[in-house]
Amino acid sequence: MYNSPVDWKKIVDSVAEGVIYVENFTVKYANPAAAEITGFPLNEAFGRKCFEVLRTEICQSACPIREGKPLPWKEEGVSCLDRFNEEKFINIKVRNLGKGWAIIFEDRTREVRLSKEVQGKFRLRDIITASPKMLEIISLLPRFAASSAPVLIEGESGTGKELVASALHHLSPRSSGPYLKINCATIPEGLLESELFGYVKGAFTDARTDKEGIFSLAHGGTLLLDEIAEMPLSLQAKLLRVLEEGEFLPLGATSPRRVDVKIVAATNKDLASLVRKGRFREDLFYRLNVLYIKLPPLRERKEDIPLLVEHFVELFNFITGKPVEGLSEKALKVLMDYDYPGNVRELRNIIEAAFVLVSGRVIDVEHLPAYLRGEEAERRKLEEALRRAKWRRGEAAKLLGLSRSTLWRKMKKYGIKG
Ligand SMILES: Nc1ncnc2c1ncn2[C@@H]1O[C@H](COP(=O)(O)OP(=O)(O)OP(=O)(O)O)[C@@H](O)[C@H]1O
Ligand SMILES: [Mg+2]
Repeated sequence: MYNSPVDWKKIVDSVAEGVIYVENFTVKYANPAAAEITGFPLNEAFGRKCFEVLRTEICQSACPIREGKPLPWKEEGVSCLDRFNEEKFINIKVRNLGKGWAIIFEDRTREVRLSKEVQGKFRLRDIITASPKMLEIISLLPRFAASSAPVLIEGESGTGKELVASALHHLSPRSSGPYLKINCATIPEGLLESELFGYVKGAFTDARTDKEGIFSLAHGGTLLLDEIAEMPLSLQAKLLRVLEEGEFLPLGATSPRRVDVKIVAATNKDLASLVRKGRFREDLFYRLNVLYIKLPPLRERKEDIPLLVEHFVELFNFITGKPVEGLSEKALKVLMDYDYPGNVRELRNIIEAAFVLVSGRVIDVEHLPAYLRGEEAERRKLEEALRRAKWRRGEAAKLLGLSRSTLWRKMKKYGIKG
């Protein structure tokens, strides 16, 4: 037999794929990558059954070892639970080595989650945050999801309302039912009613067949009514009826339909103030506002910026295939100093645009949009003038040709403490 002078164990220990060798379903060897992916330290893995260490979805239904059939590389991946009951996604292959079997697997969890994000299928763990206010909201979500009462989500544009709505659905007992959304602002007023409630054949000239509305399609699931503030008053009355009685009347129908739908309504407006102005029905407002979530703007949770930046860098690495490692310190500082009227979506767009421009591994100030660099430039000018004036504001204002109050306003805007 060929006797290799090479220490094969060292080699197998150094590969990124997890490798587990089993005889009679008992783990005889595992490498450090296997320990990392499964969460079982090596000394705890040895001697256990393979299906205890690597708990995959195919262990029960289609175990290649039990069936005596090697498994070629399963690229589409299988899901498994690690030691902490976290769901992971792996590519796996199983080879027969005579007496024993080698299980080789690769951790694809990050990619699978990112690709879900690309498709917009969000879960709780996709909400990235370190802000106490946001964490408090997240801690409420499982209870809000368990209840069948409507949820109203308010927050400026781009704060993550859709993300939260999707998480609410996926956490709820309805998660295997449909999750549908309709944007009340983008559908023409004349079509909104038939989109929501459907119609029956003959309801109007063009109604040649019955059309199901989104309320019946969402039966057993969750319906996100996005930009609810834009719903015309006439339809608000019909929506109220669905919420109060669980039934609605398709256009042209004579008998009402019953549905079981959890309503999540979202808006970037302040609904209570629209009620005061008579632009939103008060009774509907109280019906929708049973469970309430207010998402804080990004400028009030700046501690999230570095986390989100890291997340979006990973996301666009995945989408574009560019090996960007991160942002320079200066570029991150520019992003930390900015106010984000467009919130998380704006930050995401900034990183996406930077990926187009960057050719190296680091995103720098020059890859950020000009309107941000303008702020950075102005900020530096202010700081320099203040330093030169030894932080006497009147003098610094003179140097800059600004009034004292303008200087003070700008200092506040950039968070410069004098
Ligand atoms: N906490 C977060 N973690 C990760 N991604 C986030 C977070 N908040 C928002 N995003 C991302 O930012 C973008 C905007 O979020 P979303 O669409 O949920 O905002 P929105 O509040 O519905 O905005 P609009 O009012 O403009 O419709 C999405 O790409 C979303 O994935
Ligand atoms: Mg939205």
